[in-house]
Order: sequence, then structure tokens, then C-alpha cells
Amino acid sequence: MAGFIEVQNEIASKMAVLLEDIFEDDLKDDPAVKAGLYSLEAGGKRLRPAIMYSSARMLGVEEEEIRPFAVALEIIHTYSLIHDDLPALDNDDLRRGKPTCHKAFGESIAILAGDMLLNRAFEILMRDVLISPSHSYAALKMAGFSGIRGMVGGQSMDMSSQGKKLDKDELKLLQYKKTGALIKAAFMTPYYIMHGDGYDNVGELLSSFSDHVGSAFQIKDDILDVESDKETLGKSVGKDEAEDKSTFVTACGLEGAKEELRAELSSAREDLKTLKELGFDTEIFESLTDYLEKREN
Ligand code: IPE
Ligand code: IPE
Ligand code: MG
Ligand code: MG
Ligand code: MG
Repeated sequence: MAGFIEVQNEIASKMAVLLEDIFEDDLKDDPAVKAGLYSLEAGGKRLRPAIMYSSARMLGVEEEEIRPFAVALEIIHTYSLIHDDLPALDNDDLRRGKPTCHKAFGESIAILAGDMLLNRAFEILMRDVLISPSHSYAALKMAGFSGIRGMVGGQSMDMSSQGKKLDKDELKLLQYKKTGALIKAAFMTPYYIMHGDGYDNVGELLSSFSDHVGSAFQIKDDILDVESDKETLGKSVGKDEAEDKSTFVTACGLEGAKEELRAELSSAREDLKTLKELGFDTEIFESLTDYLEKREN
């Protein structure tokens, strides 16, 4: 059985092919499209699509059903990175090992590239989700996770709390929104496609698991900003302190952040244990929890 990193590589290859087709030829000279493609094709870990495919495999949802959702989610995530890096937000120069979108194309085109990607993601979803009410519900949820109750809301909290000291609960909420929400969309989309609106025990467990994974992922991101280097990470380091951000490292110290990470992962593993007892093959997600602790970028 392949580990999570192998799945990530497999899905990254699929995404490379799928992302080639998201713009018609007559659009390819548009500067915003060029800038959007530059950021998309710079790579990245493709974590969210890999999670979505793994979740679909665990639940028994066909690949064709989630494909447009995985593409749309990676596009939304990439737009969020382009905007996150802008001078008005985190003011970063390096992303996915390359100059950030605004460094390469200028600020106005980078803003428009982000806008364009977000809309293209929903065009892709809207075209493909009219199959059934549960597909439409999954698309509605993706809009929610991306918006003011999700990623954008978290980014808004992140920006307005710059220079302030948040307590752990406030920080958890901020990180749940800015990062956890898109990760939750990855886990839950196959479930929504199967079940539509209405959680059973499995939905509760998967949702709880995804919350712990989302938290663990962002805590590790905070740790890497302090411990890693820009060659390994493909983005600049030490930025959180420079921008006076509230992170788990500023709130709990480096060792405290590592403890928090381990606690999230241990809760995540508890959820997996129960899912396994219910008969699900959880091996790939067990491997994901190990990866979240050890990942270097
Ligand atoms: C970076 O996400 C932004 C956060 C939510 C922390 P990733 O670490 O998944 O970035 P890529 O997709 O690999 O570039
Ligand atoms: C950003 O969090 C999360 C997004 C919604 C893009 P960070 O600002 O910590 O992400 P990095 O460290 O720049 O990737
Ligand atoms: Mg940010
Ligand atoms: Mg940032
Ligand atoms: Mg960060």
C-alpha cells in the first residue's frame, strides 16, 4: 500500500494534465490568464486534491465525480496564495520556489489573476455539478468554505489581528478558517456527493478528523516559517515575525507549538481509529498524519 506521499505524487501528475485544459486557447494571451497559469504551474504539493482523492477512495466515490471539484479546489487555493502574497497582505517575494505572481507580473495583474482564477473555478464547478442535488450541494459547500465563513474570513481575521496577541482559542478559529476550511472542503466533498445535506456518524468523524488535520497543517506551517529555509520551503521564512503575525509559535513558543501539533495529530488518529472500527480503510490517512508531523515543505 502506497503512503500519502506516493498518492500526492500520483495526484500531482493527474492535476498537471487536468490544469492544462482549464483555459480555452483564445484566452491564453491574456496577461491575467498567463499570470494565473504561472502560479498554478509553479507546482505546490497538491495536498488538497490528494486529500480529496484519498477521501473519495476511502468512501467509495468514483474518481470522475470528484475530478472537477479537485481541480476547482486547487484553483481556489492558488488564487488564495496569489492574494495572500500581495504587498497589501503578506508582502512575499517567493512562492512555490518562484517569484510571487505580483513580482513576476505586477500587482494589478496579480490581483486580476486571483479574481479570474476564483471565477474560473466556479465556472468549472457549475458546468459539472448539475448532475444531481448532492453535487450541487457539494459545490455550495465549496463556495462556503472558500468565502467569508471560511478562507476569506480567516484571511480577514489574520490581517486585522496583525500586531495583536491572540489567545489560543482565537488563533484556532483564525487558522480553522484561513487554512482548515479549504482542507475540510477536500475531505468532505466526496462525502457530500454521496450524502448531500445531512451528516451521519461517518460524516461527523470525517469532519472532526479534517479539523484536526487542518489545524495540524497550519501549526506546522507556523513552525516551518521559523525552522526551515527558503530553498526547502520554496517561500520566504521568518515572515510571520517580520509581519507581526499571531501564530502558534508566537502564542505558545516553538516547543509549545510542537506540542499542539502532536495533540492535534493524536486527536486525528483517534478519529481514524473509530473510522477503521467502522470498516473503512484508513491506511492512507494514517500515513497522512505521519506526513503532517514530518513534512519539510
Ligand atoms: C500554503 O499552503 C498556505 C497555507 C494554507 C499554509 P500549501 O503549503 O499547501 O501550499 P502549496 O500548495 O504546497 O504551494
Ligand atoms: C495563508 O496562511 C493561508 C491562505 C489562505 C493563503 P499563511 O500566510 O501563513 O501562508 P503562507 O505561509 O504565506 O504560505
Ligand atoms: Mg497570510
Ligand atoms: Mg502568507
Ligand atoms: Mg505561513
